[in-house]
Amino acid sequence: MDATAGFWVAVAVGMVPLAGLFWWWNDYWHALPFRLHGRGSAKLPPGYMGIPFLGELPAFLWYFKVLRRPDDFINAKRRRYGDGVGLYRTYLLGSPTIIACSPSANKLVLQDESSFGVPWNYTQLMLIGATGVGAVEGAAHSKVKAFLVRAVNQPDALRKFTPLLQTRIAASLESWSRKGRITVYKEANKAILGNIGKCFASIETEHAMETIDDLVKGMLGGLRAFPINFPGTALYYSFQCSGKLKAIFRQELEKRKCDASEPKNDVMEALMQMKEQEGKRLSEDEIVDNMMALFAAGYETTSISIMWTFYYLAKHSDVLLKLREEHMLVSKKLGDMLTYEDITSWKYTSKVVEEILRMGSTTTFMVRTAKKDVDYRGYRIPKGWKVACWFRYLHTNPEHFKDPMSFNPERWNEAPKAGSNLVFGGGVRVCAGNMFARLQITLLVHHLVLRYRWRLVNPNEKVLYIPYPRPADEVEIDITRI
Ligand code: HEM
Repeated sequence: MDATAGFWVAVAVGMVPLAGLFWWWNDYWHALPFRLHGRGSAKLPPGYMGIPFLGELPAFLWYFKVLRRPDDFINAKRRRYGDGVGLYRTYLLGSPTIIACSPSANKLVLQDESSFGVPWNYTQLMLIGATGVGAVEGAAHSKVKAFLVRAVNQPDALRKFTPLLQTRIAASLESWSRKGRITVYKEANKAILGNIGKCFASIETEHAMETIDDLVKGMLGGLRAFPINFPGTALYYSFQCSGKLKAIFRQELEKRKCDASEPKNDVMEALMQMKEQEGKRLSEDEIVDNMMALFAAGYETTSISIMWTFYYLAKHSDVLLKLREEHMLVSKKLGDMLTYEDITSWKYTSKVVEEILRMGSTTTFMVRTAKKDVDYRGYRIPKGWKVACWFRYLHTNPEHFKDPMSFNPERWNEAPKAGSNLVFGGGVRVCAGNMFARLQITLLVHHLVLRYRWRLVNPNEKVLYIPYPRPADEVEIDITRI
């Protein structure tokens, strides 16, 4: 061995104890305040904090991006530390974090708003709108949420949107079949954004919707941006997008205040007119911020589910056949408008939709911040730490869903174990548009299975998991009318 090679071997060997020290130091350092204050007899949950500054990010990327076996990120912890109470400590998201992966630990975090708050800092709150549903807490949140749910997600609202959505979804499918080959995610994104643009704010033109699409994406980009705000930075761009988005909704609001003669029958109008029991209305700021929240939350999530709908139905001809049978029974109504009641009567379809939502679940985990020390079954979640409610693990755990990676709508013949299905979140922040999303997916299934034939261009395409699970080609298909 020459001198240079010897030098490098010595460096490599020397690095081993150094890396070990770093490893230990990171875990010790983050747990130090906890140890110094000796807060009672509760211990930190098992786990480790990874390497300094990055924590377990490399391990997360290893499982999610390199191996593409995302569930093994949690399985590795289970093997090493046991199931315990379903809590593990780690360092992720730039913060010491507790991972919650049992139904009861998730329930604790999602329901107790006085102990676990939204994870946004002041800058992020300004970005998404300080009075938006995702930003406010406590009584302010309950008030705004009740308005949104009434305007979007309850049977009266859904009944009103059904004919409009039906016409638009049928037209989207028709235009896709005219193109012949499409990428479902891309087309579904445009179509669903168009649907919510129309239902929420009577926005008609494709150009206006494209602008909103860019602005929403630009605004959300700021939530993960480096916290420096001056021209040229991602955060600065994000604030610009947020400002322009607010201006669009405020302008629309002003227009409607000046001319209320023509009813719009949309969500913005409902929010302007609704009153609480005590007669109070939403303020203009609240309406604008919450229109932003609805647009931000409402379309990519649904488009991803629609992408998976094409994927799973193409792969499971038995399910497609059964769906066709169910929908043939109502085919005499084709040409007539289906009612919301028709749609909720399709029992098999609703199981298929639930299975698509579970298998193609968009939210790997949801984050909260502990507002105070919370003890849970002998372990402590320290104040200031983040908590990651690991929804994905609930949906892919064989103890909750037998043979979880197989697509099996029949599993929904029985209700899932309590707290194991959090596709739409749970507790106080459960999704405000879950029924609106289900309505769109169900309408699409109806028109798709009765009138179209399609095939996956790349049936063996690999699945990617960051930032959300999707086949790498975002489901490219050839589609024709039957
Ligand atoms: C398949 C489609 C959808 C999925 C998978 C989904 C998923 C979720 C999840 C997991 C949460 C909980 C967030 C948390 O705990 O912090 C959530 C919240 C929310 N969703 Fe959805 N969502 C979907 C569609 C929609 C649609 C169509 C709308 C609007 C019409 C919507 C509006 C909202 C709002 C406003 C919240 C915040 C609720 C709150 O903070 O109280 N979502 N969604």
